[in-house]
Amino acid sequence: MTVAIASDHGGFALKQEIIAYLEKKGIAFKDFGCYEEKSCDYPEYGRAVAEAVVKGEYDKGILLCGTGIGISIAANKVKGARAALCTDCFMAEATRLHNDANILAMGGRVVGPGLAVKITDTFLHTEFSGEERHARRIRAIEE
Ligand code: RB5
Repeated sequence: MTVAIASDHGGFALKQEIIAYLEKKGIAFKDFGCYEEKSCDYPEYGRAVAEAVVKGEYDKGILLCGTGIGISIAANKVKGARAALCTDCFMAEATRLHNDANILAMGGRVVGPGLAVKITDTFLHTEFSGEERHARRIRAIEE
């Protein structure tokens, strides 16, 4: 499994926690920035990860900003991106099972590092259910 990850300054500290988890688990990843906590604009990072995932360069994306909201809105402007803002493991599991979400978004000012790692682990290790009703709804979104 390969992961594209990015954040703005509001998600920067949480991104370091997620990167530590990826490294510990031996999951290959690329950090698309930002690379310091200086104020920056989340849309470019959301777009970069979404494009990399949609092109098939990475299996999944992870995006962090202060709330997770702005960066997920930006990512979802890229056709084929299904970025899901998750604040707990139930959401992370459900969005993989039902929405086949390809990008996880979280807020560095919302969830603590312990929960964020559990959410990430759940997201990365839950497969899409493949059930017809869910596949149909995803097709409708794409169309
Ligand atoms: C930055 O202050 C903040 O607006 C951003 O990280 C994010 O929360 C936007 O949705």
